[in-house]
Amino acid sequence: MSRRKVTIVGAGQVGATAAYLLALKEAADVVLVDVADGVPQGKALDMMHARRVGGFDVRVVGTNGYDECEGSDVVVITAGLPRRPGMTREDLLKTNGDIVRSVITEVVRVAPTAVVICVTNPLDVMTYLAWRISGMPRGRVLGMGGVLDSSRFAHAIAEAAGVPVADVDAMVIGAHGDTMLPLVGRATVAGRPLCEVLAPDAIEEVVRRTVNGGADVVALLKSGSAFYAPGASVAAMVEAVLTDARRVMPTCAVLDGEYGLRGVSVGVPAVIGAEGVVEVLELDLADDELAALRASAAGVSQGIAALGLGE
Ligand code: APR
Repeated sequence: MSRRKVTIVGAGQVGATAAYLLALKEAADVVLVDVADGVPQGKALDMMHARRVGGFDVRVVGTNGYDECEGSDVVVITAGLPRRPGMTREDLLKTNGDIVRSVITEVVRVAPTAVVICVTNPLDVMTYLAWRISGMPRGRVLGMGGVLDSSRFAHAIAEAAGVPVADVDAMVIGAHGDTMLPLVGRATVAGRPLCEVLAPDAIEEVVRRTVNGGADVVALLKSGSAFYAPGASVAAMVEAVLTDARRVMPTCAVLDGEYGLRGVSVGVPAVIGAEGVVEVLELDLADDELAALRASAAGVSQGIAALGLGE
């Protein structure tokens, strides 16, 4: 079997971290694409230098074009600009929207059968935009948000309860932003419901740490945003596609009636396999949870409308 190929567009903090994790695991050959002259080439060369001592043997290539991406099984889009002083969220939406549009046009040309994973923020809106521009089946374009938010949720629970993180099962759905919805009532610690393990005020603090996880990292770093946990989350989703794992992952998926939502993409549990989103799972949510999910999706719809893509 020929080796699998993963293209990562945007060789910045998140893209390079994901690329390195995938290379370390020998999950696939990796192509790093970026507009910055020398950056993807330099990072790729650095990773190739690590092969002997790191004990992995895959090919990592850096490029400013798309020819090398031909035949990719998965394409990850992390290309984008961070918000700069004086820039509104709307400005960021338009700027990153233009970048994602240009990237997806190239991706469809060179890798028309790839599964596309969007990471660029605001990621729920960017996922919908990428899907609309791509003309691909809806399952083939998805976004990475919930895996990261759920990992932050699990971390916060493990710290508060003093248990190994592997004993925590917890999921976050909704948009990747302030309106995300940590599913407190479904979280468990070694099989016990979270509400039996932590007091209500401790649970409140866990939720706060989950929702503010990204902002907490930004505040500490002072410049730039999180990349280790985002990179690990990208790698986990890419591996699920490459191995046709059919694992259930909280995924930003384009919806067509699920949870009463359509014409929008937002974080929901989904079966992830070789075709991308194999199936969106509809949890039997409580009324307040469903209302919160729909409110979160309404925020995404506003962004979609601001890009002129509303239905
Ligand atoms: N094509 C390819 N790469 C591009 C393009 C483009 N049109 N425009 C910008 N880039 C590249 C930049 O040159 C940069 O190297 O995207 C990269 C982004 O990297 P960082 O600035 O380090 O950002 P990062 O922290 O990796 O975050 C990337 O993911 O989590 C989201 O909010 C985050 O939208 C951001 C994205």
